[in-house]
Amino acid sequence: MDKDTCKDCGSSDEFAGRVRSLFGKISPRYDLANHVLSLGVDLWWRRVLVRMSGVKAGESVLDMCCGTGDVAFAFAKYREGLRIVGCDFSEEMVEFARGKKMGLEVEWKVEDCCSTDFAGGEFDIVSCAFGVRNFAKLAEGLREMHRILKSDGRACILEFSLPRIRALRWAYLLYFKWVLPLVGGLISGNRQDYQYLVDSVLKWDRKIDLAGELREAGFGDIVVKRLSFGIATIHIAHKQ
Ligand SMILES: C[S@@+](CC[C@H](N)C(=O)[O-])C[C@H]1O[C@@H](n2cnc3c(N)ncnc32)[C@H](O)[C@@H]1O
Repeated sequence: MDKDTCKDCGSSDEFAGRVRSLFGKISPRYDLANHVLSLGVDLWWRRVLVRMSGVKAGESVLDMCCGTGDVAFAFAKYREGLRIVGCDFSEEMVEFARGKKMGLEVEWKVEDCCSTDFAGGEFDIVSCAFGVRNFAKLAEGLREMHRILKSDGRACILEFSLPRIRALRWAYLLYFKWVLPLVGGLISGNRQDYQYLVDSVLKWDRKIDLAGELREAGFGDIVVKRLSFGIATIHIAHKQ
C-alpha cells in the first residue's frame, strides 16, 4: 500500500498475496458486511462515482478491483450500450460477481490490476472503488490505469477517507476503530480481516496524497469530491 512496497509485511508480492487471500476468504459475506457497516450508503457512493465519471453511450469501462461487481453493475444500470469489464485478482470475488446474475452485460477477468494484459488506450474510463488503497505498489497501479486509458480517458477512484472536522473525525474514529472490526468480524467470522480495513484506511489517510500520486502518474485536471462528511472521497482524473 505504500508507494513502492509494504514496509510492514515484507515484499510487495507477499503483501498482494495476503490481500488476495483475505478478500477470497470474506467474499461470501463481503456485500452484507459492506451494506450493514455503511447502513447502505456504500451503494450511493458507487452511484455518485458512476455519475461523476461522465460516462457516455458507446464508451468502454474497466472496473479495477471489481470485487463482487457493484461498481460494474452500477455502470451497466446507469447507461445502456457500454462495454464493461470487471477485473480483480481474487478468483472468489470474481466468481461471486459472476454469480449475481443481475441480467446485465459485464465481462469478468481475474488478473492483477497493477499489470494487466489489456492493450494501451483500450478504455475510456477506468474506475476503482476501495481498491487502490490495497495496491502493493500504488504508483505502478496508477501508471497501469494511465497506460490502458484512451488519450481523453479518465480514472475514477472512490476510496475511504476520514472526516476533516475534528469533532466528527473523533466520533467517526470511535466507530471505525472499535465498532467496525467487531461487527465486521461477527458478520464475516474473522475480526482480523476487518482490523486490516481499519489499519489500511488510517495509514492511507495519514500518508497518501492521491491527487499528487495521480499527477505523478500522468493525470491532470483532477476533481476531488468528499462524500458523507469525508468518510469517502472521489477523485476524477483526466489522462494528460
Ligand atoms: C475492498 S474490495 C472492493 C471491491 C469493489 N470494488 C467494491 O466496490 O466493493 C478490494 C478489492 O480489490 C482487490 N484487489 C486488491 N489489490 C488488487 C490488485 N493488485 N489487482 C486486482 N485486484 C486487487 C481485492 O481482491 C478486492 O476484491
